[in-house]
Amino acid sequence: MLRLSVLLSIALLALLVSAGTVAVSRVKPATISLGSRKIAPGEGVQRRALSPSDVPLKDYFNGTDLQWFGEIEVGTPSQTLTVVFDTGSSSLEFASTLCGAPCKNQKQFDPTKSSTFKDGGRTSTITFGTGVGVDPVVGNNWQLSLRSATDVMSVGGLNAGAVSLFLITNQTPTFAPDPFDGIQGMAPRLSGFFASLVNQGLPSLFSLFLTPNSVGGAEMTLGGIDDSKFIGSLTFADITSTSFWQLTSSSISVNGKTSRTLNTRRSMIFDSGTSNIVLPQADAEAVYALISPDIKPNPAEPGTFGIACNQITSLPAEISFTFTSQQGQPFNLTIPSSELSVGPFRNNPSLCQTLINADNFSIIGASLLKHYYSVWDIGGQRMGFAPTGI
Ligand SMILES: *[C@@H]1O[C@H](CO)[C@@H](O)[C@H](O)[C@H]1NC(C)=O
Ligand SMILES: *[C@@H]1O[C@H](CO)[C@@H](O)[C@H](O)[C@H]1NC(C)=O
Ligand SMILES: *[C@@H]1O[C@H](CO)[C@@H](O)[C@H](O)[C@H]1NC(C)=O
Repeated sequence: MLRLSVLLSIALLALLVSAGTVAVSRVKPATISLGSRKIAPGEGVQRRALSPSDVPLKDYFNGTDLQWFGEIEVGTPSQTLTVVFDTGSSSLEFASTLCGAPCKNQKQFDPTKSSTFKDGGRTSTITFGTGVGVDPVVGNNWQLSLRSATDVMSVGGLNAGAVSLFLITNQTPTFAPDPFDGIQGMAPRLSGFFASLVNQGLPSLFSLFLTPNSVGGAEMTLGGIDDSKFIGSLTFADITSTSFWQLTSSSISVNGKTSRTLNTRRSMIFDSGTSNIVLPQADAEAVYALISPDIKPNPAEPGTFGIACNQITSLPAEISFTFTSQQGQPFNLTIPSSELSVGPFRNNPSLCQTLINADNFSIIGASLLKHYYSVWDIGGQRMGFAPTGI
């Protein structure tokens, strides 16, 4: 489980590298003006030919909620695969028969059995950056070997036709236990299957209902908003990057208090493929200072913090991030205290990992998204939130 919180940032870092052979460095996401990407009023309803579709999601749960994934259909006849719908990355990659033993726990797409498959012939290796997770976080131990291709695909019964994708031809053992077969990037610029669906007239937004495992019924709605899943109305905020689902936060508070370090503006990236929260070291320490002096870095797993498991359940740790709505009003998104523990470290099971990892960027993951219905509006370059009451 803890390993999967690494996967989050991994999925995020995949976006930071271009396709091709790359070594990941710590890249600070740039802020890019998005003015030209806004759609004119009314434009979104002109060519509406496809109706919204709900895609059920399963929770990869191992002591804690880690990842949510759902089915896609690829090839002719279609082969069913499962992918994490990852707002922190932008491409599609999944296990294939070219991978074999290293992908033995995943369902492997067989390109020889698809009449519509076209090999792209381009091979690449993505080395994912880590340093924000638990479990062995050593050098380049998160790596996928890929081969470019195109094939037809559909999601939620919506047929996207031929799309670019990557077959996984090899992977490091760190990926082996995943109960899903690949990753579908859902970054805020149109690409892949979603671009095709929008070209066919699907509204250019999707929504996520990432419930805890104990509740179940998680879903993604493509092209629409399922207003039976939240309480009250959605609050929307403009994103501040065209590459990331990024909002500007004016302040962080913990149990109703803030501090000089925390009461400042920072850009935060919302990543459905990350289960934890990631903040720069000083911010992570400032949050923990308001929770307990006993939360300390775990040097065995750089970037992580922990506290004795028998202390963690009684700690109040309500963490609020303040954002500004499109109407200029402040609003809070709040993580309840119950999310503080990520679970025991493998190398020291009496020590429990705490929610926030330290790295040189700020990511809000599923531990917050689990408590809100979220709308990811690519056409409007904005995000919407409403409490689920869960
Ligand atoms: C669940 O966690 C345990 C303990 O950390 C680990 O040994 C096991 O491989 C994990 N299972 C999956 C499916 O990730
Ligand atoms: C956000 O939470 C903080 C801490 O509890 C509180 O002081 C502030 O008034 C809240 N802001 C809004 C807009 O609710
Ligand atoms: C962040 O970057 C600084 C300077 O580049 C470095 O010293 C520090 O170790 C980095 N922190 C993390 C958590 O990676």
